[in-house]
Amino acid sequence: MRPRKLRLAHLPTPIAEVPRLRDIVGCRVWVKRDDMTGGPEAGNKIRKLEYLLADALDLRAKVVVTCGALQSNHARATAVLAARLGLRAKLFLRLRHGDTVPTPPTGNFFVDKLVGADVTTITPEEYKDRGTIMADAASELQRRGERAYVIPEGGSNGLGALGYVDAMSEIAEQGRVGLCPKEFDHVFFACGSGGTAAGVALGASKTGLAGHVHAVCVCDDAEYFETAVRRIVPEAQSFDADLATLSARPAIAFDDREKGPSYGVMSKEQRALCVRVARETGLLLDPVYTGKAMSALAAQVRRGEVSRDANVLFIHTGGLPGLLAESAAFDGEL
Ligand SMILES: Cc1ncc(COP(=O)(O)O)c(C=O)c1O
Repeated sequence: MRPRKLRLAHLPTPIAEVPRLRDIVGCRVWVKRDDMTGGPEAGNKIRKLEYLLADALDLRAKVVVTCGALQSNHARATAVLAARLGLRAKLFLRLRHGDTVPTPPTGNFFVDKLVGADVTTITPEEYKDRGTIMADAASELQRRGERAYVIPEGGSNGLGALGYVDAMSEIAEQGRVGLCPKEFDHVFFACGSGGTAAGVALGASKTGLAGHVHAVCVCDDAEYFETAVRRIVPEAQSFDADLATLSARPAIAFDDREKGPSYGVMSKEQRALCVRVARETGLLLDPVYTGKAMSALAAQVRRGEVSRDANVLFIHTGGLPGLLAESAAFDGEL
């Protein structure tokens, strides 16, 4: 039997072809608006958190512990939903080398503070031990009589990934009622911790919705994410008999050619693409995730890896608060 999930997201999210993207990226693109899964908690993470927070409540947790970058969308979504459910949130947020905590707080970090999350900033070196740091924090809370539930980076484990299996079924249903094609040649989305990729790939195998699954790596390389997803997929399959019996192993192409200068930093061309998409379609892409995913799609069409005749599904995974914290990066482009 499928694990229980909470109903926290506004579903189904809209899906529609964005005709002007054809001029910009070179092929037909339908955008699944998972940036509209909610209000302040919106983005892809809420689909995973519907499962993870149900588990936390079932285990009678009072505090959820998680981690991410200072501008983590996942940490913000967790903090907002924790407040909504009457839980406390303990966040370990990674500061980049040389960065200090912004005062006043900006973007996702501001929302974390606004909803009362308990934030501890950690260095990139400490972040490598995030598993231990979070387990220690949970033990400490436990000693004080507060049961804690640890959510891994990005909510990316087998349980969380089920959220994106469900998203693919939701899109297949939208195809059945004529809101989008019943099948796409390709699906593109940003990959930051692997849970979305695992869920989309399993969902694509289950529904036959997309021929090729492209996870656009925004930080680590393809090999890193292959390993991560290879761990998450069987974990997700263990929760669902339908997924466990899928005959084909879901194939994912990890594209790590659009990572840009570094995590959260775009090249000039990537920034120009975000500005053009915003001005010609009204879609806001963020510099960490969706901007790089759209760049990868445009680059693959340019190189002939995706045909100009292809029908592409682009999953807009959110990230607006992070974009708003990065206005300085667009200096000179506007
Ligand atoms: C806006 C946005 N898009 C995409 C991703 C990537 O999803 P995942 O962590 O499941 O790989 C994230 C989180 O990392 C995100 O915040």
